[in-house]
Amino acid sequence: MQRIIVIANRLPVARKEGLWVTSPGGLVRALEPVLQRVNGSWVGWSGDADSELEPFEHDGIEQIPVPLSSAELDGFYYGFCNSTLWPLYHDAIVAPEFHRHQWRPYVAVNQRYAHHAARVLRNDDIAWVQDYQLQLVPGMLRAMRPEATIGFYLHIPFPPIELFSRLPWRQQIIEALLGSDVLAFQTRASVRNFADAARRFGDARVSSRGELAWRGRTIKLQRAPIAIDTSHFSRLARSPQVTERVAALRHELGDAEHIILGVDRLDYTKGIDLRLKAFAGLLEETDEPHKYAFVQVAVPSREDVPAYQDLRSEIEQIVGRINGDYGEPGWAPVSYLYRSLELEELIAYYVAADVMLVTPLRDGMNLVAKEYVAARIGDPGVLILSEFAGAAEQLRSALIVNPYDVDTVTATIRRAAHMDRSEARMRMQRLRRTVRKEDVFEWARACLAILEAI
Ligand code: G6P
Repeated sequence: MQRIIVIANRLPVARKEGLWVTSPGGLVRALEPVLQRVNGSWVGWSGDADSELEPFEHDGIEQIPVPLSSAELDGFYYGFCNSTLWPLYHDAIVAPEFHRHQWRPYVAVNQRYAHHAARVLRNDDIAWVQDYQLQLVPGMLRAMRPEATIGFYLHIPFPPIELFSRLPWRQQIIEALLGSDVLAFQTRASVRNFADAARRFGDARVSSRGELAWRGRTIKLQRAPIAIDTSHFSRLARSPQVTERVAALRHELGDAEHIILGVDRLDYTKGIDLRLKAFAGLLEETDEPHKYAFVQVAVPSREDVPAYQDLRSEIEQIVGRINGDYGEPGWAPVSYLYRSLELEELIAYYVAADVMLVTPLRDGMNLVAKEYVAARIGDPGVLILSEFAGAAEQLRSALIVNPYDVDTVTATIRRAAHMDRSEARMRMQRLRRTVRKEDVFEWARACLAILEAI
């Protein structure tokens, strides 16, 4: 059996009160059993700067920590990853920065990940590299282990060529990615965009549908939308603790007739500001504002990046303004939580929410949309979904909106809140069918099947 070495920015475990615990998330849940079965390893950063750790085993998987210094975190993680690549790949919603002093640590850190992986990677193993932080790793590994099977999965969008061409290091990134045997993306649009960029900046030829020819090798392109452990979410949504918590939550929210929910990492790609303005529009036009309660959960993220700090202030100002304009003593229309929630608490919010607003300006996939659907096992509930989320390619029965069109989002929230139950039920049934069939285990199976066939 071929061994699989996953190489990702972070390890799938984090240290809590001196103990290693498995991090939550679909990717980890899907890969854990696979790696256990094939004696796999996971190469990644532990989450602590300036710490040198030896490889160790956790739940039957070899963990290979890659050390990062504080200076490297600045240049690599906060800098090139999250001030250059992240905004550039997300439609340049904030202006990407291009700094040579941040490119250099990106190269050096990618090289270190590749070295750590190469130490355990044999020529007949599969190396599976994850996401935008490690785009140089496939090429670096190919140079060290020419016979290995190398896969790369991009969790975020691959941008259109007009945007990608701005990157001063576009050729190096394309050539390094072409070191892979399989390059997988969330959407058809990303596959297309990558093929355009590979032709233009790598001189690759499209040899057949879904394949590139480059320097005597063939590279397969795959569309593989990531997903969630659907049955786990549905099971928890049915649990007595969650049911009890839902009733309490609805009461805490003033027994509002229409509970509307947004759940996001606090990131400018998520469109939280425009979504709040759309909700304000609804309060503006209704005679019965008390019937509505809007909950926005904003999970702290990348707090050292100035654009994230600015966004936080802006969102908090908008929340303050709406609650100032429409609230009354003892009642505020917007409940804003700046924190992450325990999984069961999060699911209680999903079950309590009549309308879910997932309105990113650009998003690789958006798993919150799928989680909401998986949690709607009783009352249908209505999902409003941005056309710019990867999930919109699959979840066609949601109410699809352009998140920049604030008036239409306002009208769509109203439509969702008053949708008749038979339409809501029919839409949710279709959505549930999709998230049940295309879950994260199916995703991992499809990704690994194509790698194992190389
Ligand atoms: C996105 C990226 C992931 C990343 C996650 C959280 O989903 O695709 O690679 O891990 O955001 O961001 P963070 O910077 O905290 O790892």
